[in-house]
Formats: sequence, C-alpha cells, structure tokens
Amino acid sequence: MIDDVIAARDRALQQIDGAGSLDALVALDTALLGKRGAFADFKSSLASLPTVDEKKAAGQALNEATQVVSAALEARREGLTTAERAVQLERERIDLTEYSGKSRRGHAHLVTQAWERLEDVFIGLGFQIAEGPEVETDFYNFEALNMPRSHPARSGFDTMFTDYSPSCREADGSVLLRTHTSPVQIRVMETIEPPIYMVMPGRVFRRDTPDSSHMPVFHQIEGLVIDRDITMAHLAGTIDAFTKAFFGGAFESRLRPNYFPFTEPSAEFDILRPDGTWIELGGCGMVHPNVLRAGGLDPEEWSGFAFGFGIDRMARERHGIDDIREMFSNDIRFIEQF
Ligand code: DAH
Repeated sequence: MIDDVIAARDRALQQIDGAGSLDALVALDTALLGKRGAFADFKSSLASLPTVDEKKAAGQALNEATQVVSAALEARREGLTTAERAVQLERERIDLTEYSGKSRRGHAHLVTQAWERLEDVFIGLGFQIAEGPEVETDFYNFEALNMPRSHPARSGFDTMFTDYSPSCREADGSVLLRTHTSPVQIRVMETIEPPIYMVMPGRVFRRDTPDSSHMPVFHQIEGLVIDRDITMAHLAGTIDAFTKAFFGGAFESRLRPNYFPFTEPSAEFDILRPDGTWIELGGCGMVHPNVLRAGGLDPEEWSGFAFGFGIDRMARERHGIDDIREMFSNDIRFIEQF
C-alpha cells in the first residue's frame, strides 16, 4: 500500500503542476483531498491492513503524502493567483501619459470674460452685483429716469418696442427691450435700503444697423452708489480706482462735462492709454433728485452717483478688435483666439 500511496502522491503532484487556472486547481483539490478524494480512500483501507506495524508505516506514509500534496496545492494556488493578477493588471492598464486629441476644452467668450473681470474689480472695491429684466416698461427705462414722454433725450435711444404683453404691462403702457442698464438703478432703489453700492451688468438693445462699431444688441454695466453726503469727488475717485484696477496702474481717467437726464451734473469719462491717446468709456454723474424720488428715496436725505459704460467696448479695447460684429459672429476661429 505504501507504494500505491507514493505513486498516487507523484501523480497528484504532476496534476497540480499541470493545473492551468485557479478554477482547475479548486476542482483538483476536491478530487485529491476531499471527503471522497483519492487520499480518503487510502485512509479507509488502512483498517484492513493485517499488523499494527504495517498500519503504522502505511499511516505515516499517507500522512506525509497528504502534507506534500496539500503544500503543493497551496504553492500552485499562490503562483496562479499572482499570474492571474498580473494578467488582469495588464489588461486594465491605463496609460496616464497617453494623449487623446479628441476633446477640446473651450473657454468663456471674450465678452463674458470682460463681464466677469468687471464684476471682480467692482467686488474688490466693495460693490455688490444686481441684474434686471431685459424686457422693460416705459416707466423704468425712461420715465423714472427723468425722461417723460415728450423728453427730447428719448430720441437718442433707438428703442425697440415689443408687442403688447399682458404679463409685463404696467400702468403706463409701452413695453420695450431696455435701451440701457440704467432702469436697474430704479429697481435696486425700490428693493434695498441705502447705503447702496451696486453694479448692474446686462444686455441692452437698440434699433441700429450693424456696422463695425454698432450692434442692435450689446452689453453695459451700470453703477449706483447711494449714501449720505456723496459728492462728485467720490465719483471721480471710484472711476479712477476702477480704471487702474481694470487696465493697470499706467492708465488714467478724466471726467468731461456732458448732459444726461438722469444725472445732474453729468459727465463723460475717458481713460488715457499709456500711448497718450484718450478713449471714451461711458457716462456718469450725480443721481438727479427726480430719479431718487422715482426710486422712493428722499433727495434731502440721500445723494449718490451713477455711471454706465459698454462692456463690449472694454473687451474690444483690451484685445484690440477692429470690428465689433466679430464678437457676435460666434465664428469659432475668431473667438478661440481670446
Ligand atoms: N444709460 C446711459 C447710456 O446708455 C449711460 C449712462 C450715463 C449711465 C450716465 C449712467 C449715467 O448711470 O449716470 O447711454
């Protein structure tokens, strides 16, 4: 019997060597060492051996053979596990340095970039941001800004009126696409208590034929400060602080007398480029008492300044763009340059 055990052991070791996968090894384990396996049979035949010595010798040989086989199974299992893991790792390998040219990363449009930079600069100066509706009423766009029906300044805005719309119709009638961001001043005054330090960016509309410097839709940013004892000096200081923060310390600003119905006195502000040329940026002034009143504020108690200028013009100025129409063309070859 001892010879049979040794023969069975050697056969088993060969089979274990030949097992090609962990699954095959599990099956082999059962076939060899399981309850009904090859070595269990030997165990039950021990009892039929004639002498104690023979039983002892055969038992010892069986024990040794079982140990050798189970050690071989274990070693083979480790070997196969390592090999299978290596195959899996190779199969799932990701080359992190590999470049896929397929997806391109976009970026914000240059008008959006200028808009966001303007907001950042004003937030840095302590202002908050507000926005108003693009479809406005005659009241907010004109009347409350000290431009009654017959006011000649109205003709300077090439207004686009919309069809009668009951949902936004208010007492006085006309509904229009706002011609400037100034109506948001009134909405802000109506909603929050002074002191107010607010900028209001947005899209505005005028009936203009597109050419290199005009578009029927463009963007403005409005500023409004309402507090006690605000003077023209605060306005000039704010414009200058803004100019330097946005364009850089080498730029200067100046105010030039002008007329707007909603401010008194009014001015236009220009900036001086480092090359010595001036460029006109926008309008500003001390908020007219009638405008304060329209916003529900007492002009005896509150005073303030306002300004408004074109965002697109700022973007043009920064990037040296000749034709404003390019900025609205959505031609990817143009906009991806900025
Ligand atoms: N709303 C004016 C425009 O579109 C710009 C402007 C001028 C805004 C003077 C102001 C201001 O707030 O004070 O032409």
